[in-house]
Amino acid sequence: MVPSANRQNPLLTSILFGTLVSLLLLESVVVGDGNCGCAPNFCCSQYGYCGTDPDYCGPGCREGPCNAPPSTNDVTVADIVTPEFFNGIINQAGADCAGKNFYSRDRFLEALNSYPQFGRVGTQDDSKREIAAFFAHVTHETGHFCYIEEIDGASKDYCDETNSQYPCVANKGYYGRGPLQLSWNYNYGPAGNSIVFDGLSAPETVATDPLVSFKTALWFWMNNAHSIITSGQGFGPTVRAINGGECDGRNPDTVRSRAEYYTNYSSQLGVSAGDNLTC
Ligand SMILES: *[C@@H]1O[C@H](CO)[C@@H](O)[C@H](O)[C@H]1NC(C)=O
Repeated sequence: MVPSANRQNPLLTSILFGTLVSLLLLESVVVGDGNCGCAPNFCCSQYGYCGTDPDYCGPGCREGPCNAPPSTNDVTVADIVTPEFFNGIINQAGADCAGKNFYSRDRFLEALNSYPQFGRVGTQDDSKREIAAFFAHVTHETGHFCYIEEIDGASKDYCDETNSQYPCVANKGYYGRGPLQLSWNYNYGPAGNSIVFDGLSAPETVATDPLVSFKTALWFWMNNAHSIITSGQGFGPTVRAINGGECDGRNPDTVRSRAEYYTNYSSQLGVSAGDNLTC
């Protein structure tokens, strides 16, 4: 029997088919092998591997404690923000300062209950640097806890009319209030939603309720500065996060003032301030 020239060799066919199948399998390994079955408390990443850091538990995480906040350390913030530390700041405010009868260590610690990650991520030193940085900005923003409201705030316009998600309410001012001087409708709106007060219709709450006031500062901090300082980028980028208008040579004096408070508080807490102090 003469073999037909164009008859396909079944072996060759199966090799070719097998190659195609393994190419497809290879492709699916890249997209994800669907093969996790991780131990408890491990996340299955988008690629099908087990782990606990944000590469696994962050976007695309398939199973396990997805989107879980990073675990906290065993720091007790109240042990670092001692009465002596807190009073060392507020005692420098003059007796006639409105903030003196408004801000207190107790309200700060109470507000912290809603922000369990604050000062509790990374090493002990990371915790101390975050606390030093937070109080450095608060000291600068409020003049050692003197001011509750921005000076002449009511005369200034902090309404971003283009923001339709958090529209300004007539005759309400979104000027600086509280420990980090929350400003703008686009911050009052989401802060109010998160903390549960009417940020757009009753922004003055930030100047009348000290617990809400501290929560707005922590809310802003956790959303804008926390990950900068805890990831070791230094103090300078937190200035940019809080008031970027000072950076790039536009107001070196205020940047220096913030950094001096930060190095002072770092040394009080017994931690090196690190590099990258300005922006
Ligand atoms: C550091 O801060 C404390 C208040 O916490 C203050 O009494 C002291 O004078 C500051 N030191 C310097 C060098 O600024």
